[in-house]
Amino acid sequence: MCGIVGYVGPKSALDVLLGGLRRLEYRGYDSAGVSVISEGEILTRKKAGKLSVLTEELESSPLSEASIGIGHTRWATHGAPTDGNAHPHTAGDQQISLIHNGIIENFSEIKKELEAAGVEFESETDTEVAAQLLAYEYSKTNDFEKSFLSVANRLQGAFTILAINRDDPDLVLAARRNSPLVIGIGEGENFLGSDVAAFVDHTKKAISVGQDQIVKLRQSGFELMNFAGEEVQAETFEVNWDASAASKGGWDSFMAKEISEEPQAVGDTLMGRLGADGDVELTEFAGLSIADIAGINRIIITACGTAAYAGEVAKYAIEQLARIPVSVELAHELRYRDPVIDENTLVVAISQSGETMDTLMAVRYATERGAKVLSICNTQGATLARESNATIYTHAGPEVAVASTKAFSAQITAGYLLALFLAKALGKTDQVAKVGKELLTLPRKVKKTLEMIGDVKALAEELKSTESVLFLGRNVGFPIAMEGALKLKELSYIHAEGFAAGELKHGPIALVEAGQVVIVIVPSPSAEESLHAKVLANIQEINARGAEVIAIAESGDVEVANYAKRVFYTPKTLPLLSPVLSVVPLHIFSMELAKAKGLDVDQPRNLAKSVTVE
Ligand code: AGP
Ligand code: GLU
Repeated sequence: MCGIVGYVGPKSALDVLLGGLRRLEYRGYDSAGVSVISEGEILTRKKAGKLSVLTEELESSPLSEASIGIGHTRWATHGAPTDGNAHPHTAGDQQISLIHNGIIENFSEIKKELEAAGVEFESETDTEVAAQLLAYEYSKTNDFEKSFLSVANRLQGAFTILAINRDDPDLVLAARRNSPLVIGIGEGENFLGSDVAAFVDHTKKAISVGQDQIVKLRQSGFELMNFAGEEVQAETFEVNWDASAASKGGWDSFMAKEISEEPQAVGDTLMGRLGADGDVELTEFAGLSIADIAGINRIIITACGTAAYAGEVAKYAIEQLARIPVSVELAHELRYRDPVIDENTLVVAISQSGETMDTLMAVRYATERGAKVLSICNTQGATLARESNATIYTHAGPEVAVASTKAFSAQITAGYLLALFLAKALGKTDQVAKVGKELLTLPRKVKKTLEMIGDVKALAEELKSTESVLFLGRNVGFPIAMEGALKLKELSYIHAEGFAAGELKHGPIALVEAGQVVIVIVPSPSAEESLHAKVLANIQEINARGAEVIAIAESGDVEVANYAKRVFYTPKTLPLLSPVLSVVPLHIFSMELAKAKGLDVDQPRNLAKSVTVE
């Protein structure tokens, strides 16, 4: 999820590594570190915190000059952001050093094997397992490349790994599976990076490393092979970024970058938690026993803003699958209404930052009244996680834009996993496999949505002068209508309101007059209780009053095209899982409309990324 730099060449490796990591700071991170090889020794400095903390460490404890090195900025997924958990991880008594982006799914089984063989671990990370495995293999083979290939084939999950060995000060080995990796080709020097920003100051000639490929990088050049060790060919490309674009990885805003990462955020949040048969495997429940779960007679989901809308989707999933009563309560309201909370209540707190004071205060209030607390959080080691009995981490990676997008998609995904886990724990397994299997298709379907939804930008530009937009949704589409309205408000400063479609005739339809823009999230025709027909009827009601209806609908739903001015289609999926797809056009629409109005998409007025005051 974060930043990787590798270098071999005549320049100061440390300067190149730090310069590259600075270029990658835009990705957000919680710790940083470097390793170089100097005079046959691997020298490493790594610190939790920002790059400035690492550079202070380097000033007080300098590294010798070196012409080879690896650098890393970490976004913690396994193990809190501490100096010890920061990368690089060395192993084999400083024989090798390794850095990693991603999530190693099978780290715990490998760790057990290595511990049984006497290997001692120093960190809590999944990454150190790769480092120790590499050192262990090397101690048996004395062949670095062969050992590295063996490790790459053993690891499962998402990983870009770079490794150096003190016995070969002209070789950086790299492997890529599901996380990005690019090669920078210089004159008498070569680079590796998690994106071209890592080396764009030195060369604009690059190669994208493909899935399951290995790079052998030397000062004189590089070799590319597959995980079977067979040479593969690759196309070079010219980096066409200017310096300012490099600060956002080539995107014109963090929000655009983060929307594009929604497929990976969903995929990484599912990673290691669903078997191929759709069976859920949530190991994060260490702090909550099955007995605790069996004793739950109600669930209160609490959060703020977008996170609360993710909670609303989770409510549908948990009640449908686990049959436990669920209510969703805004954190800043919950603790002031003297709610009924006791030891049989499970409070589920959802927060991207894990530092939202309203949510923290609600959790403390519930804990004082005996409730068990499970958090869904995107930031390892956040206050919320530390104050919960258990935490399901979303793996959306750092979210920099104030408007939450990929974290929202990941929160919904975690809510589905929780619903499946509770259903399974309570023996209600009739839908678990079907929903679990369909969940596995969502990353691909989110990616397809990004590719297929057509020109939302043109619509946004067409509507940039509109002063009011209504959003309608039904069932699981209702929270998405609320999310769409919030995004439009917080980004374009336009009045926007989300309603349950069925609520329209109970008042809000009075707002509808000729030209009123109404965006409707249309249920799948396969949804239950003719929700689809009811929403089409709602559309006809507002059409009759001159509304301009824009529909978000499921592929193949041709009927809706008869009633809507524009339809943006999303791939077919189970109705319960449709929010992960239907929200995508709304995120893009709000971003494009704000851009059309010349507004700051990443830093909207009056807002902060994390509201750490009540
Ligand atoms: C979302 O776009 C907003 N920035 C805001 O509603 C946010 O979701 C809310 O403040 C909660 O933040 P958290 O997830 O970090 O707790
Ligand atoms: N999973 C690894 C860790 O938690 C790498 C995280 C990252 O991609 O930065 O250390």
